[in-house]
Amino acid sequence: MIPIDVFKEDIISRENARLFLSLEEYKRFEDIDNIDKLNLLKRLLENPIEEFTEINDLYFRTKWAELVNSIYNKKAITMLEVASGDADMIPQALARSNPNSTYITANMNKILNESLLKKTTNLDLNIKLIDDDASMINNYIKSNSIDMIAFQHGVNDVLQAILCEQNGIDTVNTDWMECLPKMIDLVRTEVENYTFEANVKPIFLNLVKDLVVTLKRDGVIAINHYMFKYDLDLGYPKELFENLIPIIRNWFKEIEMCEEIFYNGFNEQWWIFLKKIV
Ligand SMILES: C[S@@+](CC[C@H](N)C(=O)[O-])C[C@H]1O[C@@H](n2cnc3c(N)ncnc32)[C@H](O)[C@@H]1O
Repeated sequence: MIPIDVFKEDIISRENARLFLSLEEYKRFEDIDNIDKLNLLKRLLENPIEEFTEINDLYFRTKWAELVNSIYNKKAITMLEVASGDADMIPQALARSNPNSTYITANMNKILNESLLKKTTNLDLNIKLIDDDASMINNYIKSNSIDMIAFQHGVNDVLQAILCEQNGIDTVNTDWMECLPKMIDLVRTEVENYTFEANVKPIFLNLVKDLVVTLKRDGVIAINHYMFKYDLDLGYPKELFENLIPIIRNWFKEIEMCEEIFYNGFNEQWWIFLKKIV
């Protein structure tokens, strides 16, 4: 696979670890042997992810902070994340890189919402949860009010949830991980029947268009993606999982209110950025 990033050991430096990890996490980071730290980073960048350590947290938090700082410096911003689940990379990064920011998450799984709120209680952020489908976003957020919208490994989940809804599978009041095998079966069937794009693209693009309404002019939608080995082992079609960003890049040509922009250091296979131009 194309590595998700160029291997540079600075990203997991002690200085970054002190900044981006909690005390407990920092202690666990320090317990990892220096050679193992480098090997974990290399495996994280060059393979579908199968290990979950402080190196992953440190890498992704540092990367999101680098992105936000490169656009907004240290300013407090309003960030909307879609389909965060209970993954807290973005709020953890934002609290340290841009303290006093407002972090809003639109996420509809009840169990994961509860878990995310627990993980983020003490952060230096104004946190708001929209416990609903992000396609309802305009009921909750004013037009032109958001600086950045993020999907942190969330597009695949949004597409899966669309298929679940079409097939009568509840993803709101259930355990997401228990549903995952069924979701991946659905994705595989759609791909095998050549119906995947026709069934998910219009709904996904409508959701993105509704999200764009909430963005300020010049605001940015930032999307990243990577592969989990677990999903591939469950039968997720590799061609789709690996090329999700190039596929949606093609779909996004239909969104007229935005143009694609690029940032150095963010690989185009795994990241895509849209800027609102109207
Ligand atoms: C596995 S979780 C976490 C994904 C996470 N971003 C990650 O790092 O892997 C997937 C989440 O996406 C949420 N989700 C999927 N489609 C959504 C939508 N249209 N609106 C809000 N949340 C959505 C689900 O409710 C679930 O909480």
